Amino acid sequence: MAAPDSGAQGRRGGPSRRQFLLGGAVAGLGATLAVGLDAALRPGDEPASAPADPPHGEDTIPFHGAHQAGIAAGDQAHGVFVALDLAGGAGRDDLRRLMRILTDDAARLTRGEAALADSEPELAASPARLTVTFAFGPGFVAAAGGTAPAWLAPLPAFSVDRLRPEFTGGDLLIHVASDDPITLAHAARMLLKDARSFASVRWTQRGFRRAHGSVPDGTTQRNLFGQVDGTVNPRPGTEDFDAVVWSTGGWMAGGTGMVVRRIAMNLDTWDELDRPGRESAVGRRLDTGAPLTGTDEFDEPDFAATSAIGFPVIPTFSHMARARGDGSERIFRKAYNYDERPSGTDVSNAGLVFVSYQADVAAQFVPIQRRLDEVDLLNEWTTPIGSAVFAVPPGCAEGGYIGETLLGE
Ligand code: HEM
Repeated sequence: MAAPDSGAQGRRGGPSRRQFLLGGAVAGLGATLAVGLDAALRPGDEPASAPADPPHGEDTIPFHGAHQAGIAAGDQAHGVFVALDLAGGAGRDDLRRLMRILTDDAARLTRGEAALADSEPELAASPARLTVTFAFGPGFVAAAGGTAPAWLAPLPAFSVDRLRPEFTGGDLLIHVASDDPITLAHAARMLLKDARSFASVRWTQRGFRRAHGSVPDGTTQRNLFGQVDGTVNPRPGTEDFDAVVWSTGGWMAGGTGMVVRRIAMNLDTWDELDRPGRESAVGRRLDTGAPLTGTDEFDEPDFAATSAIGFPVIPTFSHMARARGDGSERIFRKAYNYDERPSGTDVSNAGLVFVSYQADVAAQFVPIQRRLDEVDLLNEWTTPIGSAVFAVPPGCAEGGYIGETLLGE
């Protein structure tokens, strides 16, 4: 794949759509004349036959399927995670009713249709790749009378953790993602309105990535440290991805395990670190995201390579080396950035809403997090402040509902 978004490939200063439209008509007259004509056009002069740029708002990601949407597909620019606590006494029948209603809302909204009794139906018209993903915490599965996967529990305590209750735990998670923040806010509100007699909001986390269209599709995202983040990840649509991500047994077949960690990134002290120090902390270059032993983002790192004075080129304690270990534990990472109001004299309050999907949280995520807890150069600037584990049930066919394999009649 091409280098990440560091290249000067922006459109600013490039030919405008009008120049392209005129290009056919003025072929042979030369670019100078085309530019001249472009400048001469006034609003309203555009030929009636001019094809409009298709707006991204009409793009949809199918809601129904074997797996829930929003995991393999979609790197939407905006995401919100809402964790709910179930009302006391909510039982299996209530949960079934709740999930039927929420599924109906999500199916409509992701098609660009208003939800039933939508008070702002106009806001549903531009889904902009809207996805809605539901996931169950331990409390939900218990209230449903189901058997939870062994890994569905709070993560073990890690020494780096400084967890805050306002970002931790939850019975039901609703993850809404879209390229359009208005669509996102409306969809989240509709879903919460329909959930409110069954559950109340425990925490909300919002995050963002590059805007759709500002870098070529498929470009690996960057986090607010400036790092290319997401390079070594199973590729959706491959057998490898399926094996890493999708659960196979019982009501979770076709579902996955989800870890949501809020990780503060201290940009203020990161500022004090020089560029070589920043690159060593991860083991990759900041410009291209290439390993320190390579030139392209997707080059295989050479952990055995040493410098002229005999030190490993990729530090043994770098985040990449520690996260990889022997390569036997793998996860699918899909993070968002957050950037909130700083407090005191700080200039920033930023970090990652780190999200990973894996078939078995205990066997895949926990050993990686343990290694990072023991040693990781990046720990100097990062602090986990929220943590939650959820079971993402499989998708459903039209007419079905999310959670039917757990709650089915
Ligand atoms: C704020 C916290 C974090 C930041 C800024 C961060 C950043 C990065 C960056 C820049 C890379 C290298 C590029 C890439 O392959 O994506 C990377 C790789 C990776 N990170 Fe993190 N990361 C964070 C937390 C975590 C956590 C909590 C885990 C899991 C427990 C994790 C697991 C991984 C894995 C598995 C890789 C790929 C390693 C390999 O090359 O095989 N990261 N991370």
